[in-house]
Amino acid sequence: MTASATNGRSRQEELGQFLTASPTADFMASMFGPLPSVIRLLDAGAGAGALTAAFVRMVCEKGESVSEIQSTLYEVDPNILDALQTTMRECQSKCRASGIAFTFTIYSTDFIAEMSAKLAGDLFGTLPPAFDAAIANPPYRKISTDSSERRALRSIGVETSNLYTGFIALIQRLLVPDGQLVGITPRSFCNGPYFRPFREDFLSQLELRRLHVFDSRQAAFREDSVLQENIIFHAVKGRIQPRELIISSSSGETGGEVSETVFPFAEIVHPNDVEKFIHIPSCSSHGAAKETMDGLTTSLAALGLTVSTGRVVDFRLKEALRKEPESGTVPLLYPCHFNGGTVHWPKLEARKPNAIMDNAETRQWLVPTGMYLLTKRFTSKEERRRLVACMFDPEQVKTEWVGFENHLNYFHASGRGLERHLAAGLFAFLNSTVVDQYFRRFSGHTQVNATDLRTLSYPDRNTLNAMGREMAALDLSQDEIDQLVTKHLHACR
Ligand SMILES: C[S@@+](CC[C@H](N)C(=O)[O-])C[C@H]1O[C@@H](n2cnc3c(N)ncnc32)[C@H](O)[C@@H]1O
Repeated sequence: MTASATNGRSRQEELGQFLTASPTADFMASMFGPLPSVIRLLDAGAGAGALTAAFVRMVCEKGESVSEIQSTLYEVDPNILDALQTTMRECQSKCRASGIAFTFTIYSTDFIAEMSAKLAGDLFGTLPPAFDAAIANPPYRKISTDSSERRALRSIGVETSNLYTGFIALIQRLLVPDGQLVGITPRSFCNGPYFRPFREDFLSQLELRRLHVFDSRQAAFREDSVLQENIIFHAVKGRIQPRELIISSSSGETGGEVSETVFPFAEIVHPNDVEKFIHIPSCSSHGAAKETMDGLTTSLAALGLTVSTGRVVDFRLKEALRKEPESGTVPLLYPCHFNGGTVHWPKLEARKPNAIMDNAETRQWLVPTGMYLLTKRFTSKEERRRLVACMFDPEQVKTEWVGFENHLNYFHASGRGLERHLAAGLFAFLNSTVVDQYFRRFSGHTQVNATDLRTLSYPDRNTLNAMGREMAALDLSQDEIDQLVTKHLHACR
């Protein structure tokens, strides 16, 4: 390396300057959700303006309802300001050609010092600005406890040890409610113990909508050869975390495939975790799950089975419902009766009815007793799996007829129960991690409908029976179920 290259490098490190390649910038811009017609955009630590330029390209291509972009950029490096000006002029022409007004203001001042002062109310008569959208690749560098940056941030109650978390904490404060932030940063904030106050601040003010990781550490900033694990996030200013969010990954190579999986938020940030770690599941196991599922070719119909939604719609049959079983009633099952792998019935402490009158009006909504496999249509936030299956065993609940309520799906053989081993095999399969991961690949779904289960591919009858014979009990741990299912799925290949 030459002396000037070394100088360049140390200056770059001092400024935390690593520029975003345009495919990554375009990918980031594509993550924004619907935007207002006049967008106040912030690009803090703008470099040569790659991120604003990508945002502008995205809006010009698909932001039909956008009439104006008011862009604000902060950049302290005087050597890059000309390039930034040029990029902004290009943005202006691009917007003009698309009929969008574009204005920009470049501040060649220290974003941390200026915004901390504005937010602290130290600058008499100036209010902090407000933004609808921010796109950021903030500088990264450790900041020592007695540095000016640390002191500035401390004045507004932000205690953090890196420039990038300081930038994000400030940007977050400048967003209007529902304002959006797409940022690319090191992944270190997700679990480093020192970042705990930052995570608390971040997760209490921003709703995480999507996280994107790169399979290769070097991918995002190849040209600068930064060995840093980076993450891209899309977050929205607000205080109610979503039930689910998208985790995506890509190799980082231009044009590389992006794989997406939907996870419950509770799996990413565990509800009782005081550290508020942000867990990012490996998407590669999800790819493996897809491969396993793609190898299965048996349809539910070929197994002689179908799955239907529970036929008892309770508000239509109010008169016939009973809190407790009594003479003339039969069991009525809701998701609240799921108890691990089996049914806990009656459940008198539950708010739901436990029984339904069996009479001429209701009989058409009931099914004859038998081994049925039940699945929940909607799973609660706390549940780890998207698909939760349990077994209705006529040995445990003695009855001739039974009602399955509409929030359940039930697997049956032409309206009757299933053979025991087949039912147990299906139970293992549907409760396996492989099926769960497969289901999560479909974004946007918050429920598992009968149609989803009908179109799924299953192991063949022999494999399901073999799995079922080995299911000595229904309360196996997730690991035990997974081992059993994996062993049989491999054997049938
Ligand atoms: C990681 S680079 C990203 C540049 C650009 N956003 C991109 O993605 O290509 C961060 C930029 O922030 C600038 N920067 C560093 N400290 C700053 C500060 N306190 N205020 C404003 N800009 C700063 C650096 O000069 C650098 O250009």
